[in-house]
Amino acid sequence: MTTDAALAADEAGPIPSPLANPAPAGRWPHRHLLDVDVLTPDQLDLVMHTTETMTEILARPIPKVPALRGWGVTNLFYEASTRTRVSFEVAAKNLSADVVNVTASASSVTKGESLIDTIRTLEALGARLLVIRHATAGAPNLAAEHFGGSVLNAGDGAHAHPTQALLDLYTMQTHLEGGSVAGRKVVILGDVLHSRVARSNLWSLTAAGADVWVCGPATLLRGFDAWAAAGVGGSRRFTVTSDLGAALREADVVMALRIQKERMASGLLPSLREYAARFGLTRERVALAKPGALVMHPGPMNEGVEIAADVAAGGQSVITDQVANGVAVRMAVLYLLSGARAVGA
Ligand code: NCD
Repeated sequence: MTTDAALAADEAGPIPSPLANPAPAGRWPHRHLLDVDVLTPDQLDLVMHTTETMTEILARPIPKVPALRGWGVTNLFYEASTRTRVSFEVAAKNLSADVVNVTASASSVTKGESLIDTIRTLEALGARLLVIRHATAGAPNLAAEHFGGSVLNAGDGAHAHPTQALLDLYTMQTHLEGGSVAGRKVVILGDVLHSRVARSNLWSLTAAGADVWVCGPATLLRGFDAWAAAGVGGSRRFTVTSDLGAALREADVVMALRIQKERMASGLLPSLREYAARFGLTRERVALAKPGALVMHPGPMNEGVEIAADVAAGGQSVITDQVANGVAVRMAVLYLLSGARAVGA
């Protein structure tokens, strides 16, 4: 075959897909995904439905579609990650994107290059969708101001982790009878203070009608009373308590959070052993929730601290499903953002 013929054959594209590029942008007006607080209940539904389609694709013998063919997706991670980074990479590859992974500790960041220069460099090298994780809250927002494509926040400081909240919502919807979190009691337990997962989940779960309780030692709930009283309050249902028994009573979902020692100032916890004794999610404590309540954890887990090993591996745990659903949700979000970009949103 001549080069021209080979290129022409390639132009014809691979296997036809229900996901023609670009995604329909009408119902998805967002250029970036920096947090879930901007998503209306309708837009949350759109992400959930798109995720269902992606889940169907993932069940095929070859889970690959050409939706993002020719799109440069760059993963820029300034913080450690296993499941989030790998699932973004797998998601982008399943959509046939060209994926580049940059680990800040092995990049020119170590030579003093600024975030803005790094982003401009990656854009010049072909990035159109930039996935960024950073220890500083607001870094993805800054990136969005300087990047010509779309920015996806993969976790910034204690601020936000939108795709984790979306995969948590999807996991709950697929496991709860009736397929909805509306009216369901969801308990987020542990180091809420340092958790971007808790903050993003608060927005999406309350927007979807869940009754959200955050629970932990008072030192790890600081500031959340103000959320309950102000913004997240209103018509949304949100309770802050250190009373674990009250939180677990009638709960439909219990999500344990990791104790984030790396972000923790001294004096917030007497010791991990004491935390585990008072707030660790044990079998006896899970039994205080509704029979069959879902047990969740965003990972990585410290078994024996915030969650007992037998609970994490037990029949009520959907922790592995959370990880698997991360791929489908990230495929959905990359796809929706590419559609918005294609019409210049
Ligand atoms: C979380 C994170 O990095 O925010 N993990 C994740 O992305 N699944 C939670 C944590 O680090 O404890």
